[in-house]
Order: sequence, then structure tokens, then C-alpha cells
Amino acid sequence: MRMTARTLLLSCLLLFSTCKVNDRLTVPFTEGLIGEKAMVVCAHPEASQVGADILRAGGNAWDAAVAVQFALAVVYQVAGNIGGGGFAVYREAGGQSGALDFREKAPLGSDKDMYLDDEGNPTGRLSLEGHLAVGVPGSVDGMVKLHEKFGSLPWKNLVQPSVDLARKGFALTEQAVSGMNGRQDLFAEVNTHDIVFVKEGDWEAGQVLIQDDLARTFERIRDDGRAGFYAGETAELFLAEMKSSNGIITQADLDAYQSAWRDPLVADYRGHKIISMPPPSSGGVALIQLLKAIESYPVGDWGYGSSRTIQLMTELEKRVYADRATYLGDPDHYQVPTKMLTSSVYLKDRMANVDLKHSTPSQEIKEGSVEIVESVETTHFSIVDEEGNAVSVTTTLNSGYGSKVMVKGAGFFLNNEMDDFSIKAGVPNQFGLVGAAANAIVPEKRMLSSMTPTLVEKEGKLHMVVGTPGGSTIITSVFQTILNVIDHDMTMQQAVNAKRVHHQWLPDLILHEEGAISGQVEESLRKMGHDLQNRGAIGRVDAILVRDDGRLEGAADGRGDDKAVGF
Ligand code: GLY
Repeated sequence: MRMTARTLLLSCLLLFSTCKVNDRLTVPFTEGLIGEKAMVVCAHPEASQVGADILRAGGNAWDAAVAVQFALAVVYQVAGNIGGGGFAVYREAGGQSGALDFREKAPLGSDKDMYLDDEGNPTGRLSLEGHLAVGVPGSVDGMVKLHEKFGSLPWKNLVQPSVDLARKGFALTEQAVSGMNGRQDLFAEVNTHDIVFVKEGDWEAGQVLIQDDLARTFERIRDDGRAGFYAGETAELFLAEMKSSNGIITQADLDAYQSAWRDPLVADYRGHKIISMPPPSSGGVALIQLLKAIESYPVGDWGYGSSRTIQLMTELEKRVYADRATYLGDPDHYQVPTKMLTSSVYLKDRMANVDLKHSTPSQEIKEGSVEIVESVETTHFSIVDEEGNAVSVTTTLNSGYGSKVMVKGAGFFLNNEMDDFSIKAGVPNQFGLVGAAANAIVPEKRMLSSMTPTLVEKEGKLHMVVGTPGGSTIITSVFQTILNVIDHDMTMQQAVNAKRVHHQWLPDLILHEEGAISGQVEESLRKMGHDLQNRGAIGRVDAILVRDDGRLEGAADGRGDDKAVGF
């Protein structure tokens, strides 16, 4: 057929309009590990194996969670920890859900201006590196509380695998050595003693790391439970480490630390029930705001990766992160308006000025100007046991290896969670997140978090266990993973593999992974007024889907060494 000028024009118009509608991306079909009964997905193969062994030995999901939390502290020291904290959201097979907050606390000797100089300006990196950056750790108390309430196997059985891993050693992965080699100078600078992580020359993948001091610490935790960490020899070593520099944590802080049971946040999304972490995490509030706000739009029809889907997600995220900065903090110290922020009436009004064709500049949403400084390390694991109990845990030292301080003689890293407080109103933390009075430093207050361990129910049954590390990108990564399954009909593994985008209000920038945004969509978004920036991996989602036939799909994130082990 001869192409006349008119048919050529019509074909071009048709092609253009088709592209506009069909500018979605496809994620290649793939499935995760399928298990009939039980599943563990976490950041390191050795720790996933420890969890699966506990489940095979008759342990339940909480037993496995304790064992995995501790095993990660040995084999995934960049974020796995006993010197940090975290959150656990669980759902019992019968449907009862709950949450445990084992987030770190500000030391008794802290004050709101502790990172400011005489002129009221932030002083260097004191909230990020070294002894003053450390919050009172909550992980060991959290694991003890989980075990006291739900454990079925003896405590010792859950801790022993970590003693063995630390004493016998394990082979380092490529990713592990790259993290360790990149921080040799910082480790040496921050620690006044030799640490096992610093050596002559580079670490190489396959080398075996033995941690004798850590093995002895885990023996004390195995034998004495809470007192094996917050009292006795471990506490003495911890306090000596604090005194060796400018640390302010005392025995009174260790004695006072208690993790807290909290009611999870629950909301409906397209016939599913979302169960997530309440404050002091901002994760549950923000996730529910995003899901409720997007529910009235046909994003499933628009498609994954389409310009309309990304534009809408971005505009909602800007407003949600602006709310986070102003309203969210520790509910034990600040009246957090959780109900208002997640109510349909508020959200309808809040999102009313979202323009699907134009970017609203962040400056018009709220004042502020920040830049992102450092990437992040936290870690997440998801577990389902044979009975159908589910536990979703996100745990952290904050930055990679936290404050970089390793307790002399005890072999574990201490967090730098104090940087998650707003050290001065409007001054960004390492994630570029700003805050205000709601998240100011107060002794014994918990710093605001973005960690979003989440469960999803469908028709009254467990459907998904999901969570991720990634600092400020945690919330949007969990949000996209849930959309990928519910709206974009992906398998769990596709949903995890799918490339991600992120906007956090400030800086006013769409961050995206390579391949998350096609050239055509990038052009559309730029025309709408957005700035875009390609960056490395966003999140490392480890998730489990309970399929309609009852089988489990464990999806480990290939962005890391993460692995699903199930049976
Ligand atoms: N430290 C990262 C977070 O809690 O969000």
C-alpha cells in the first residue's frame, strides 16, 4: 500500500497516542522459590538457612525471627545487629496481629542541641560517626520479648547458631568485601583499638571471617538472655567503649531500655487489609496515606512504569513526605496525629491539588532545600511458618556498620541512629529527610524511622509479608511492591525485581533505578516539570506471597545476596 502524506500523518498520530496510553514497561515473568509449608527470606543465605532450620526443627515464625535477627548480626554486619534496633509486625495464623517496637532510644544524657555549636549550627558528622552517634540499642531486648511471648523452642537453640557462625566463620561474599574494603580507613579512624574488620590489604570474596569476641558475646546472650547484653561482661565492655571516647550511654540507659508492644496500623486497600508499623516509624502512616490516596485511580490500567502512574505516585509521595517532616515522631513523647493523617477525609483534601499533567514544585508544598549525602543500610526479613503465622522484621544500625564503632572485646557494631532525629528543624539528615519539633531529641525518646515491615491480608487470609531496607526509600519501595502485586498482577518475584522510582518531596527530584523509566516516559515527565536522576539500587525487598492455592512464593531481592529458603 502506498503511504500518502495523509495516511502517514494519521499513522504517526495513532502511534503517538498508542504510545502515550501504552508507555508501560513489562517486567519479565519469573517466580520466586515455591514452598509448600514454610519460608524465610532475608539478606544473607547463611541466615536464611538458620531460620529455615529452626522452622524444620518445629520452631514457629517468632523462633525463626529471633534466630535470623541474631544470625544476621554475625554474617551481615553492615546492617544485621545486636547494637541497633528495629520493628516487628506479626500476624498469628488465627488472624490476630501485633507489633513490637525495639527501636533505639536517645540516651538519658542527650539534649536537643547536642549536635549544634555555640551559634546553633550542626557540628560536622557527630550524629553519624563515632560514639556520640549511638542510641541505646533495642535488638536484644526485642528478641527476648518476642521469645517470651511467642517462642516455642528453648532460647538457647535460637542463639546457638550465631555462636557457631561467629566461632567457625563463614565465607565472605563479593558484596560483603566491597562494603568492608570501602570502609577500612573509617573503621581505623573511629576505633581506638584493632577490630577484626581491619586488615593489611583488601578482603577477598571467599575468605572466611571468624569473630571470636562476638561468639563470646552471643554465648553470654545465650546463657543469660537480656542480662547477657544489658548487664554483666557485655555491658561492662559496652560502657568501657563509651568512656574511651565521647560516648554518653551509661548503665542507667541500659537498665531503662524496654521495647514496646504497639497496635499495628490497619487499613483497607482494594479489598485487601494492610497491616503495618505505627509511629515511631513513619512507614505505616506514609504507606497507608499513599495507598489510600492512589486507590481512586486506575493505575492497573495505566500500567507499571507508565508516565501517568509515575507522575501520580510522585505527586502523592511529595505531599506524604512533607507531612512526615512536620507531624511524625515518637508517640510516647509527641502527639502524632496518626488518625487524621490516614483518614480518607484528610487525604481527599490533602491530595486535591494533585495535577496529573504537571509537577507541583516541592517548594510550593513546603519550604526547604536539601541534598542526599550517603546511601543507607538496614535489613529486612520475612517469615511464614507451617501453621501460617507470619513475622515481618526490619532492623538497622542506620548507616552501613552504624557509627562504625565496634565494642572492644565484644565484637559488635554500634548504631548511629541518633542521626534519625531532626538535629535542627529543617536541617536534613543523611537521607535528605527534614524534620521539626515532633522528631527533636529528648532523653529516652525514639528517633523517627522509615522502616515499614508490613503484612497484607486478602479475603481474611494472609497474602503478603513484605519490607525492605533503604532509608527514606523504604516507604516507596514497599508501596510499589504492593502495587505491583495487587494492581499490576505481578508474581512476588516480578514485583521484587521490578525497577523502582522514588520521590521524597525534598529534594524535588525523581530518583530512579536504571531501567525504571523508559526514554519516552522520561521525556513526558520532564515536560510535566520534573527533574530526574538515575541512581544505584533502590531498596532490597524480601517478601513472601501466599498464593491462592496456599503455596508460598519466597522472593529474595537480587540487588543483594538475599536468599529465600523454604520447604
Ligand atoms: N535508620 C533508618 C530508618 O530507621 O528509617
